[in-house]
Amino acid sequence: MAPLLSVKNLSIGFGKGDDVVRGVSFDVAAGETLALVGESGSGKTVTCRAVLRILPKAAQIRSGSVLLQGASGGLIWRHWESARCAICAAIRLR
Ligand SMILES: Nc1ncnc2c1ncn2[C@@H]1O[C@H](COP(=O)(O)OP(=O)(O)OP(=O)(O)O)[C@@H](O)[C@H]1O
Ligand SMILES: [Mg+2]
Repeated sequence: MAPLLSVKNLSIGFGKGDDVVRGVSFDVAAGETLALVGESGSGKTVTCRAVLRILPKAAQIRSGSVLLQGASGGLIWRHWESARCAICAAIRLR
């Protein structure tokens, strides 16, 4: 069965700058809790914003994918909203 959330080889950059997130991959199964841990500026917030589709306009996903239950487009919105709420509750975006 596909994980609930699957992030594969995600790279993100701002403008013409170097990637600030490089090749990040992780899976989250239904009912599982995942903590992203890293030093300040390592890309935790940008990664979470990419998962939530709320990246700042200046940021681009340069490679990789964010799949919810194996789908990247045409998401089943009731599941997507549940995932978004759970992620927002667990992470204080700043
Ligand atoms: N709007 C932006 N424009 C340009 N660069 C940005 C922008 N937002 C974040 N960055 C850069 O992206 C990188 C990752 O930042 P991010 O905020 O994701 O780090 P973080 O791991 O959440 O740090 P912290 O623990 O301090 O919250 C940093 O190098 C940061 O300078
Ligand atoms: Mg942060």
